[in-house]
Amino acid sequence: MLNKTFYERIWKIYWNDDIKIVLKWFDSERVTSFRVNTLKSDKNEIEAFMDENKISFKTLDFLKGAYIIDKSNEFFLKWSKMFYDWKIYVQWIASLIPWMILDPRSGEKILDVTAAPGSKTTQMCALMDNRWEIAACEQNQIRFDKLAYNIKLQWCNIIKMLKMDANKLKDKIPWLYFDKILFDAPCSAEWRINLKNEKSYWFWSVENISKKQKIQLEIFENIIPLLKVWWQLVYSTCTLAPEENEEIIDMVCRKYGFEIMDIDLNFEFARPWIKEFSWNEYCDDISKTVRILPTSVCEGFYVANLRKK
Ligand SMILES: C[S@@+](CC[C@H](N)C(=O)[O-])C[C@H]1O[C@@H](n2cnc3c(N)ncnc32)[C@H](O)[C@@H]1O
Repeated sequence: MLNKTFYERIWKIYWNDDIKIVLKWFDSERVTSFRVNTLKSDKNEIEAFMDENKISFKTLDFLKGAYIIDKSNEFFLKWSKMFYDWKIYVQWIASLIPWMILDPRSGEKILDVTAAPGSKTTQMCALMDNRWEIAACEQNQIRFDKLAYNIKLQWCNIIKMLKMDANKLKDKIPWLYFDKILFDAPCSAEWRINLKNEKSYWFWSVENISKKQKIQLEIFENIIPLLKVWWQLVYSTCTLAPEENEEIIDMVCRKYGFEIMDIDLNFEFARPWIKEFSWNEYCDDISKTVRILPTSVCEGFYVANLRKK
């Protein structure tokens, strides 16, 4: 069982029916989703494979190349040649969203700050069709090895891998080097909690949330010099704690003058931000950040789209 404080916080963050949706999520069977790796395959091949094997799937209007299937088909999928050939990559739907917002364009230099195991880096590389420049940083050796493995087998060959602490990047890379940055932060991962699996939550505590906030803030401060003025940084987490979401964005904007930009996400479960939590009131523009409510097709997530001023 999760402790009482966890539930009390949910009642402070969400309202009415959304509370029921959130509580149900922690106890429910997750769907399986994946994306086509366009560096190795395409929509036609994947859909023909699904039809041949009578696997029914859903797609989403706002996310091209993503598929949702019933959990019962996951085992089959993971033993298929498609999977072993890295033509598909199993990934949460919500985790596909940050790059869509970052929307890389021709010639841009991009940094993925905390990149392992590389789901988002490799997605980006496929979206960019192996052109231009992506740097991917990760400090943990085991996770870095996973990142390298993922990158190699997905045929992503434009990624510069940096095995180091993201806080030190500014000592190695010229300042104002990057056009766009993705900071998919290490977080308390509350949306990953599954009550059927104690390993997913035994470590939950308010202290852990505060610890994660400190880590996020430190990395944030240290990567700011690397971003060109007027360019974009997308911040995301898979947690529902306001301290790691709205509060971080509020602090960074007040201290470093970032502008919060709109997110054009036409998705019915994109829900409002939190205006205040624990007597902390956030800036008005926090309303432009997005909390995604977990549903049968998409996990919970938080994302903010920022411009450096
Ligand atoms: C949420 S995960 C990133 C997931 C990744 N973006 C993806 O989509 O596959 C956060 C990662 O940040 C790494 N990390 C934490 N602190 C770091 C630091 N100071 N420098 C570099 N990486 C760090 C963790 O080891 C972890 O792999």
